[in-house]
Amino acid sequence: MSQVRLDKYLADAGVGTRREVKREVQKGKVQVNGTVAKDPGQKIDPLLDVVKYGEEVLRVSEFEYYLLHKPSGCVSATEDSRQKTVMEYVPSSRRDLFPVGRLDKDTEGLLLITNDGKLAHGLLSPARHVEKTYYAEVRGRMTQEDVQKFQEGLDIGEKKLTLPAVLNILDVCAGDDQEISRVEITIREGKFHQIKRMVQAVGKEVVYLRRISMGPLRLDENLKRGECRPLRKEEIEKLLQNRR
Ligand code: URA
Repeated sequence: MSQVRLDKYLADAGVGTRREVKREVQKGKVQVNGTVAKDPGQKIDPLLDVVKYGEEVLRVSEFEYYLLHKPSGCVSATEDSRQKTVMEYVPSSRRDLFPVGRLDKDTEGLLLITNDGKLAHGLLSPARHVEKTYYAEVRGRMTQEDVQKFQEGLDIGEKKLTLPAVLNILDVCAGDDQEISRVEITIREGKFHQIKRMVQAVGKEVVYLRRISMGPLRLDENLKRGECRPLRKEEIEKLLQNRR
C-alpha cells in the first residue's frame, strides 16, 4: 500500500471527518510511531507505521467488503438528499465505500458494498457475464414455455435480445385474484429493471424480488433484512479469484 496523508488515514479509520481529525492532531492526540504528530498532512505508510489515537492503535485496511441484506425502501446510491440510501446500513464511517451495482428501491437482497473499484468494475463489466440469481414472486402462472423463452432470450426493448437466462419454477400457488408463481431467475447481465422487464415480456408481473446470489457470493440465510456484515476471508478470496 502506498503512502497516504495522516488526516485521510484517520478519517478512513472512523476517527472523524477530515476537519475533525485535523483538530485532534492539533490537540496532540495522535501519535505516529510513538511521536506526537503535528502535521495532519504528514505522509504515513499504513502497513509500516503505527498510528495511535489516544490510547487506541488504529488499523485500516486498504479495501473493505460488506454484504448487505438490502431491505426495500432504500436506494442503491451513496447519497440522496430525499431518500434513505443503502449506505445507512453499513457499519463503517469510511466515505469511499459504494454499492456494487444497483437494486431497485423495492428490491431486497444481496448487495456488495466496497471501496475496491477494480473488483466492482470486474463484477459489473458486461463482458464478464457474472451470474446473478433472484428469487421472485410473479403474478400469473409461469410455464415451461416461459422457461424456453428465457433460455432463448427475450425482447425487452433493447437493441438485442437478453442473453440466455435460467428460469426455475419453484411452485405456483393460488393468490387473491390470480395465481402467484415462485421462481428463481439467473441472468448474466444487468440491464435496468432487467428481471421485471423479462417477466413482463412473457405477460406477467413481478410482485416481489430478492437477489440471492452474485458471482460466488450468496445471501446468508441468517442475515436479516437491513443487516450488514464484513465479508469473510474465504468470500473475499473467491471474489478476488473471479476478478483475475
Ligand atoms: N432486476 C430488476 O428488475 N430489479 C432489480 O432490482 C434487479 C434486477
